[in-house]
Amino acid sequence: MPGTTGALSRRRLLGSAGAAGAAGLVLGAAGGATGYAATRDKAPTALTSVGSSEVMFHGKHQPGITTPLQASGHLIAFDLVPGAGRKEAAALMRRWSAAAQRLMAGEPTAGGAADGTGHDTGIALDAGPSSLTVTFGFGATFFERTGLVGRRPPGLDPLPPFSADHLDTARSNGDLWVQIGADDALVAFHALRAVQKEAASTATVRWQMNGFNRTPGATAKPMTARNLMGQIDGTGNPKPADTDFDQRVFVPSGADEATYEWLAGGSYAVVRRIRMLLDDWEKLPVEHQERVIGRRKADGAPLSGGTETTDMDLDKAGPDGKLLIPDNAHARISSPERNSGAAMLRRPFSYHDGIAADGTPDAGLLFICWQADPLRGFVPVQRKLDRGDALSPFLRHEASGLFAVPGGAAAGEYVGQRLLES
Ligand code: HEM
Repeated sequence: MPGTTGALSRRRLLGSAGAAGAAGLVLGAAGGATGYAATRDKAPTALTSVGSSEVMFHGKHQPGITTPLQASGHLIAFDLVPGAGRKEAAALMRRWSAAAQRLMAGEPTAGGAADGTGHDTGIALDAGPSSLTVTFGFGATFFERTGLVGRRPPGLDPLPPFSADHLDTARSNGDLWVQIGADDALVAFHALRAVQKEAASTATVRWQMNGFNRTPGATAKPMTARNLMGQIDGTGNPKPADTDFDQRVFVPSGADEATYEWLAGGSYAVVRRIRMLLDDWEKLPVEHQERVIGRRKADGAPLSGGTETTDMDLDKAGPDGKLLIPDNAHARISSPERNSGAAMLRRPFSYHDGIAADGTPDAGLLFICWQADPLRGFVPVQRKLDRGDALSPFLRHEASGLFAVPGGAAAGEYVGQRLLES
C-alpha cells in the first residue's frame, strides 16, 4: 500500500517527535515505497522511504536542528592546527560545506579529498540520503584562533560550573563542532569519514562521540523517542508550530548589525555527555521512576492525568493531599513555567560505550539542546536542576560543549562565510 507507507512516513518526517517540523526541508517519502533517491536520475533502483528521505543543505537555518531525530549520530569536535588561522578556517568551511551538500543529496564526495585520497570511500554506496544532516558550529576558542575575538557573541561566554559536573576537559568544547545524523549507520559513518578527511592538515580531532535513536519504522506509529532509562523523552519541547518557536530557538537578525549579524538565523548548541547510572536507576520500582520524572513511563502522560500531550497540572493533589507531580520531579523543575519561560529544544542521541572501569554501563544521553540564548535556555534550567532534581542522583555530566551554530548557507555560500569573509 504505497499510499499508507507514504502517509506514515510523511507524518514521521513532519511531526511526531517533538523536535519535528521543518516542513519543506525534507524531501522524499512523498512517493512512499515508490520514491527514488533520485528523482535525481542517479539511482534508478527504488529505495524505501527511509533511504530516499533527503534534507536540504541550503536554507535559513542549518539542517539538524528542527530535523526529526535520526537513528544514528556522530558528534565530533576539532581544534585548528598550530598556524592555521582565518584563511585556513574559511577554506575548511568551504570544503566541509561542499562535502555536506553532496553527502546530504546522497551523492559520493567529489574525488580529491583534502587528505590526498582521490576517491570516495564507498561506504554509503547503494544507500540513499537517509535523512543525513551535517551541522557545523564554532566554539569560543575558534574566535581567538582566527583573530575574530571582537565578533565572538556574548552567548559563547563559558557555561558556569554546576555541582553535578564531573567534566573531562579533553572531551569538552573545541574550536569547531560537527553534528552528523542519519537514519542509516553506514550513511552517517560515510559522512563522518568525509568530514574527518576534509579537515586534513587544517584541524585535528579533539573528541568524538557516537550515538543513536530509534530506527524509523520500529514502532507501530510515529512517536516521541525513548531514552536509555526507558522514558519517553522530548514531550515538553517547543513545537515548530508555536508562535514563539523561532524566538526561542534561533538568533534574531539585527541585534547588533555589524558584529553578530553573521549569527542571524543561527542558534547555540549546548552539548552534554550525561552518563546514566543505570544499575541504580533500574533498581527503582516503576512507580518510583515515574515520580522522579513526573510522568508515566508507559505513555509519557503527566502524573496529574491525561495523555502524553495533556499539559501538566503542577498544582493538582491526590486524595492524600500530596502533589501528584512531586516537588522535585524533573519535568516540574525544568518546565518553562517554573523557569521564567526559559525553554530549549532538546534533540539528543543516546550512547553506549560498553562497560566502564567501575563495571557499570558507560551509557547515557548525548544531550544536545538548541536555543537563541544559553542564558535564557540551558543555564537557568540546569542551575535549578542542580539544586534539587530527583533525577540528578542518577546522572553524571561527564563532558560539556557550547557552540555558536551559524545560520544556514544560501545557495553558493558556505556555512560561516558571513563571519569569515566580512
Ligand atoms: C540524561 C539526562 C536527562 C534525562 C534522562 C531527562 C529526561 C527527561 C524526561 C523523561 C522528561 C519528560 C518528558 C519531556 O518533556 O521530554 C524531561 C523533560 C525536560 N527536561 Fe530532561 N532529562 C535529562 C536532562 C536534562 C537537562 C540537562 C536539561 C536542561 C538543563 C533538561 C531539561 C528538560 C526540559 C526543559 C524538559 C521539559 C519540561 C516541560 O516543559 O515539561 N533535561 N527530561
